[in-house]
Amino acid sequence: MDKLKGLILSGGKGTRLRPITHTSAKQLVPVANKPVLFYGIEAMAAAGIEEIGIIIAPETGGEIREVAGDGSQFGIAITYIEQDAPLGLAHAVLTAEEFLAGSPFVMYLGDNLLRDGIVELVETFESSEPDAMILLTQVPDPENYGVAELEGERVTKLVEKPERPTTDLALVGVYMFTPAILDAAKAIEPSARGELEITDAIQHLVDSGLRVDPHIVRGWWKDTGQVQDMLDANRLILEELEERVDGDLVDSRVEGRVVIERGARLERSTVRGPAIIGANAHLVDAYIGPYTAIGERVTIVKAEIEHSILLSGSSVRDLAGRMEASLVGRDVSISRSPALPRAYRFVVGDSAEIAIL
Ligand code: G1P
Repeated sequence: MDKLKGLILSGGKGTRLRPITHTSAKQLVPVANKPVLFYGIEAMAAAGIEEIGIIIAPETGGEIREVAGDGSQFGIAITYIEQDAPLGLAHAVLTAEEFLAGSPFVMYLGDNLLRDGIVELVETFESSEPDAMILLTQVPDPENYGVAELEGERVTKLVEKPERPTTDLALVGVYMFTPAILDAAKAIEPSARGELEITDAIQHLVDSGLRVDPHIVRGWWKDTGQVQDMLDANRLILEELEERVDGDLVDSRVEGRVVIERGARLERSTVRGPAIIGANAHLVDAYIGPYTAIGERVTIVKAEIEHSILLSGSSVRDLAGRMEASLVGRDVSISRSPALPRAYRFVVGDSAEIAIL
């Protein structure tokens, strides 16, 4: 088999992660202080892939280019491919035809996270040489995914978001393809939601008598499309953190799996892991509980935070109650004010959600 290329899909509007995605691409929201997208790039690099194409949307592509660059920080070469409109995953594949240039490839949805990476998958794909390989996992809500029916070791039927699923095996957002998928993508029609579905293109391979192999994912998998999924992914990654304290602790304590990055300063504070405190963060009289990722340059004074993600530059001060299950964007300020009249004062962007004690 020719050398595999990588294709990461990083378009999409991220509507379910608003308001964060009003100003930033969903693939750049950090999980354990690292953009979701980087986990996919690193998984490909670890599997020996040297050339990655990243599909970007016109609105968020610039920011993704800036952060991921030419790929040298990952030891791979990145080519950016603009998809003019979000017309589906199979449409994205067609957009990349020139980049793929007849090579087999791994396709990875840029907001997906796979605990065990793709090294083993690439090996299986290369040694067993099917026309395509799909990753499947059991889910409690198959109606929200593409699903696949199996007969023994073969995939026989795929349906995108079925109303009445006949199986609980969902398609994980990582796929192995030979160039046959391009012909299939050209042969299918748009679905009811107006998109060229990759699920339909794979069904076309099956209908054409080609071999589509299933691979059941054993480690965890997360599609980080919604806030709860982001928090779950954050928890799962933090659970495997290696402890490291590079910042300064003044009358402060860390317990369990905790990373304190360089330049961070903790005064009279407690961090109970798993948790990560970003570079140059400043904590004073603070408590940070399990499953929390505090971004760079965040300030926390007299407040308690647990099971949350705070992006860079934000500040939280003088809260009476503990903050939890929260996703806070960049440069946000949350504080208690002594000013009269005693009132709530909000300056909040579109689609934000606030729940108070
Ligand atoms: C897409 C695919 C779906 C797959 C899912 C995995 O759905 O269409 O088959 O199960 O990704 O994340 P989307 O997230 O675009 O609705």
